[in-house]
Amino acid sequence: MDTKLFFQDAAGFQTPMLAVFAVDIAVGQDAEPVVALLTTTDAVANAAAKVLASGEFKATVGETLLLHAPNGLKAERLLVVGLGKAKALSVDEIRKGAGAAVRAAKPLGVRELAIAFPEDHALDDEHLETLPCMLLSRLLVEGAEVAELDWDTYRSERKDRSVRALSVIAKEAEKSTRAEIQDGFDVGLIVAAAQNFTRTLVNEPGNVLTPTELGKRAAAMCAEVGLKCEVHSTEKLQELKMGAFAAVAQGSEQPPALIVMTYEPKLAKGESLAADAPVLGLVGKGITFDTGGISIKPGDGMEKMKYDMAGAAAMIGAMRAIAQLKPKVKVIGIVCSAENMPDGKAYRPGDVVTAMSGKTIEVINTDAEGRLVLADGLHYAKTLGCTHLIDAATLTGACVVALGIVNAGLFSNDEPTWQKFMDATKISGEKFWRLPCTDDYKDQIKSHIADMRNTGANRWGGAISAAMFLKEFVGETPWVHLDIAGCAWNDENKPWLANGPSGIAVRSILEWVRGYER
Ligand code: BES
Ligand code: ZN
Ligand code: ZN
Repeated sequence: MDTKLFFQDAAGFQTPMLAVFAVDIAVGQDAEPVVALLTTTDAVANAAAKVLASGEFKATVGETLLLHAPNGLKAERLLVVGLGKAKALSVDEIRKGAGAAVRAAKPLGVRELAIAFPEDHALDDEHLETLPCMLLSRLLVEGAEVAELDWDTYRSERKDRSVRALSVIAKEAEKSTRAEIQDGFDVGLIVAAAQNFTRTLVNEPGNVLTPTELGKRAAAMCAEVGLKCEVHSTEKLQELKMGAFAAVAQGSEQPPALIVMTYEPKLAKGESLAADAPVLGLVGKGITFDTGGISIKPGDGMEKMKYDMAGAAAMIGAMRAIAQLKPKVKVIGIVCSAENMPDGKAYRPGDVVTAMSGKTIEVINTDAEGRLVLADGLHYAKTLGCTHLIDAATLTGACVVALGIVNAGLFSNDEPTWQKFMDATKISGEKFWRLPCTDDYKDQIKSHIADMRNTGANRWGGAISAAMFLKEFVGETPWVHLDIAGCAWNDENKPWLANGPSGIAVRSILEWVRGYER
């Protein structure tokens, strides 16, 4: 989508469709909605006044109302987009509203639209805690760009419903506000492109996106944005003694890929990073297809297991945005990619493997493969000098049972690192819920014959057993683990998002990284 920012009067902007946001300012749970527009442009408010007075439009989140030939506006259509209760307005609703505007254009065949910058000061203080305009501008772009993607690339007779151009129309304002709106807009474009890059990777089928192909795509992205990238395979795994990662990979004809992406901040002359400056390690689970291996999964729904590389894709996407936003902190992205297949050479339940750290693991279930590849990825990150670690993985079905598909699971061994991540989610709007991984749970991964087993001793708290396993490999290093199994794939179409890959964690990880330069 060709997304541009204009500073001018929305009423005078020539466009097939102008979108304006509306909120419900009524107070009290059962109060009838009172709809107010987030605009100070009288002509826009006047054009919508009559239909809003009818009470037909309630301004719920993502609700839209279309008017043709709006009086007094240059636009051919006016689209009113609901953002819900004014009091509850947050980063989430702005993104959703912008997304709903873009997705409302698609079935109409409208290829170009404009969005009037939400002017929350159009309401009085009693209704709203205003959002900073830099953030607002970023949210608009992110919501719109992410909403634009549809997943019909493999359909021979595609109905092209793409929206080609989006204009964000902000009022000619004071210089400072103008610069802030422009900055937010620029950041929004980078973040959204990264999230969409991730989503596109996750959408690819397992026969197309093998570990080797994932490596190629990561390398091409790195070349494009100026990151150092190395892609290794079986030999390097052997050299590094990554016995856990190699065991998972050995049952497939497809060789594994160990992808290492490095971002070094460019410093001005005379500037240097402190000797104890953090080095952040981003480790992603990249199982390009998870059959379960010898502990094979049931056939029903197995096709979904192409998204078992969503953690890896999130890290690759985050690295892309990091390269473009250039925070002053060193970041290393590590992806452990393999295909989990049952084959004559496959690893089996009962096998004992030795991880890169030297710890031995009794394999109870070959379907608990994610923690095995991550064990070596996390340890490797430490050997590369990472002082803080974060991993993302579609790790356990148990996490989906625990938290559903609204919150992703979060585990951490360090309060300040966890707090930094929670601060990041205030901007990213992504929902994570912390679960425990204290040593009380350690018995779960005890083995009779090795240092640990790869599944819990019983079926309770399976997401925690998996986190306890990973914790063995991070040791004392501050660490956050994200179990995104329930949130990486949306089964339902939403007014602001096509069903399919969500790109979860990209925005939060990116913001967490940016938190270390402050
Ligand atoms: N990739 C799956 C987890 C998963 C489940 C992701 C559902 C997305 C949706 C993982 O490798 C797995 O199979 N985990 C097992 C672990 C068990 C064998 C201890 C699970 O969750 O059942
Ligand atoms: Zn599995
Ligand atoms: Zn898996």
